[in-house]
Amino acid sequence: MAPKLMVVGSLNYDVTLYVDRFAPPKTVVRRLTRYLGGSGGNSAVAAARILGKEAVVFFGAVGNDDIGRKHIDALRGEGIITDIIRVIDGVESGQAFVAVDRNGNTAIYSYYGANTKLTPEEIDEKVLTYLEAVQYILITNPPLPTALELVSKARDLGKTIIWDPGAQSKHGLEVLKPVLEKVDYLAPNEGELLTMTRTKDLLKAIKHVQEVNQRLKVLVKRGEKGSLLANPLSNTLIHVNAVPPEALGYKTTSTVGCGDAYVGVFAAFLILGYSEVDAMKLATCAATLNAAYEGPRGVPPKQALLKWFEACKVLIQVKEEKCSNLANRI
Ligand SMILES: Nc1ncnc2c1ncn2[C@@H]1O[C@H](COP(=O)(O)OP(=O)(O)OP(=O)(O)O)[C@@H](O)[C@H]1O
Ligand SMILES: [Mg+2]
Repeated sequence: MAPKLMVVGSLNYDVTLYVDRFAPPKTVVRRLTRYLGGSGGNSAVAAARILGKEAVVFFGAVGNDDIGRKHIDALRGEGIITDIIRVIDGVESGQAFVAVDRNGNTAIYSYYGANTKLTPEEIDEKVLTYLEAVQYILITNPPLPTALELVSKARDLGKTIIWDPGAQSKHGLEVLKPVLEKVDYLAPNEGELLTMTRTKDLLKAIKHVQEVNQRLKVLVKRGEKGSLLANPLSNTLIHVNAVPPEALGYKTTSTVGCGDAYVGVFAAFLILGYSEVDAMKLATCAATLNAAYEGPRGVPPKQALLKWFEACKVLIQVKEEKCSNLANRI
């Protein structure tokens, strides 16, 4: 079967330390968890659970170490094609150390490690062959020059491009413009979009990015406030609420990776031919289930998700508004 989606981005080992409070000279860790994570890997796994075996090809980098081997085994176990993952000597696999206090506040220390070695030079013939084969490419957080090279190649090949800029948002519109100009969907969280556009107003922020690319669809992940799709082609704003795990009888356990689950599932259902609004609803349901799961990869397989969706859909409200000119709303 030909792959349908390429996912590009980080692989991390998430070590979470549960502490009473941050920073006194000595802090006892009450509980410690370790999960394979990283936005790229999390999104790829979410998409693969929907699209099935050999439908997702992953492009990223790990160190030549145990963590790297665990990642490759786990991705392969999900049916993801792993043969263009780079294994880099002399640098450790990426790791994220997350401290969570009694109030649920988090402090994250990221060691990017091997993820930084996914340079444009790594985009070789084999990567391009896979890129030609897929319909969509979902780019999360590779180094910016690599993202730029990939969007250029993907644009030339007529692929649909989704970009979740994550921490790259901090570079601002001027620096990100060459990438933004070429993508179809920009999928940041709300804070990232505001940071990118140096504004405090969500609609203004959308307007600013659409000034850079007038065809750009902006999918904003808004945590407990849900998500929003601004489509300049149909002049619509689609709002979808979030569903708390408690509404399905679960506890909110960890929202780490909810955004990754959301974009991975959104991309997968678009590939399966669902409408954008249906893909948003299914992604919302998947993100709720991810929040109920302790680790970052809690999306169930497609059939189970569709079953959950039967219970979830009555809790999802879609509000669609026409915005013939976004500027009039500001
Ligand atoms: N506490 C929550 N309860 C219910 N749903 C949530 C919660 N947090 C997030 N979600 C769902 O997940 C979607 C994406 O999450 P979020 O906005 O946190 O993305 P993100 O910041 O990119 O996350 P990450 O980078 O940690 O993966 C939201 O639009 C919402 O549907
Ligand atoms: Mg995110």
